[in-house]
Amino acid sequence: EMLEKGGYDHFMLKEIYEQPRSIRDCLRGRIYPEEGKVQLGGIKEFVDKLKNIDRIIIVACGTSWHAGLVGEYLIEEYARIPVEVEYASEFRYRNPIITEKDVVIAISQSGETADTMAAIEMAKEKGATIFGICNVVGASIPRLTHAGVYTHAGPEIGVASTKAFTAQVTVLTLIAFYIGQQRGTITSSKLIELLTELDSIPDKIQIALKSNDIVKEISEKFKDSRNCLFLGRGSGFPVALEGALKLKEISYIHAEGYPAAEMKHGPIALIDEEMPVVVIATKNSSYEKVISNIQEVKARKGVVIAIVTEGDIEVKKMADYCIEIPDANEAFLPLLATIPLQLLSYHIAVLRGCNVDQPRNLAKSVTVE
Ligand code: AGP
Repeated sequence: EMLEKGGYDHFMLKEIYEQPRSIRDCLRGRIYPEEGKVQLGGIKEFVDKLKNIDRIIIVACGTSWHAGLVGEYLIEEYARIPVEVEYASEFRYRNPIITEKDVVIAISQSGETADTMAAIEMAKEKGATIFGICNVVGASIPRLTHAGVYTHAGPEIGVASTKAFTAQVTVLTLIAFYIGQQRGTITSSKLIELLTELDSIPDKIQIALKSNDIVKEISEKFKDSRNCLFLGRGSGFPVALEGALKLKEISYIHAEGYPAAEMKHGPIALIDEEMPVVVIATKNSSYEKVISNIQEVKARKGVVIAIVTEGDIEVKKMADYCIEIPDANEAFLPLLATIPLQLLSYHIAVLRGCNVDQPRNLAKSVTVE
């Protein structure tokens, strides 16, 4: 088993460190930065359909659902198509309005999740076109869908999803750019710029992984916390949700992800000097707004752990702890900001003596509804 873990203490840590490679594998043969072109062989026969659709519905569970939320931001921004993101378990038991004009994207690492499969079957019966984003080649979901894009992250053993999540986000980024390119909602010069940067994201993830030592130090301080709040805005919000899910599933600390501006509508009541608040405070369009949210937390004596863009000065003046990640276009921030949050939950769980790879009550794929 030690051999399989490649020298790492746990599969989860190995999988976190594999991300520069897994993202590169996911991008291979799909992006052509010099030409400003994205190629997705798996869905290319639906290219005419994609030019004319009115709506995309994303269905998934857990971490894959969080990836779907990032996808919503990206697809709406770059392809200008309205997107709805649904929990598969809720969607399947409603009587949702679905037509032949809809494209449903089902996201699943394992490709075996019962609720996601049932949601696909229902949407298929109603005439929708179904795409899959799946990691396990040949699993049930890719067999149920009309077309799809594999994430190529390689086998994920740790129950807590890490490299599969970033690969799902990468595929959704590619889909957003691909549809945008077909519909003419992204100019070719913009696409050249975006793809050139996307090509460098694996290297930037490698740099983000260097935060490991500082994250470990911070983890020592918070290992005995009972609660933790994760805040983000824009596509930082699903990153906050994912950070909270990771922490609760492997360390059993109660954690909640919230859109930073929603804090004042309730969770602010929880804040005191005992409450760690992890804030995605990278330099993007919501930076100034996030700074005022940090001030709100500090005014109530909360302890702020901020994920910041390297070289940041403003947030450093306010936050108790800062973790730097490389600067990037806003489109790619979820891919980078997720890395220190994965490491944070990992170290906290290890320090608490938890079974990181196989947390209690959880299975890698949930084949029962
Ligand atoms: C992630 O860390 C979880 N273990 C879980 O939420 C998972 O993402 C969910 O069960 C969906 O699984 P799937 O991607 O294989 O469909």
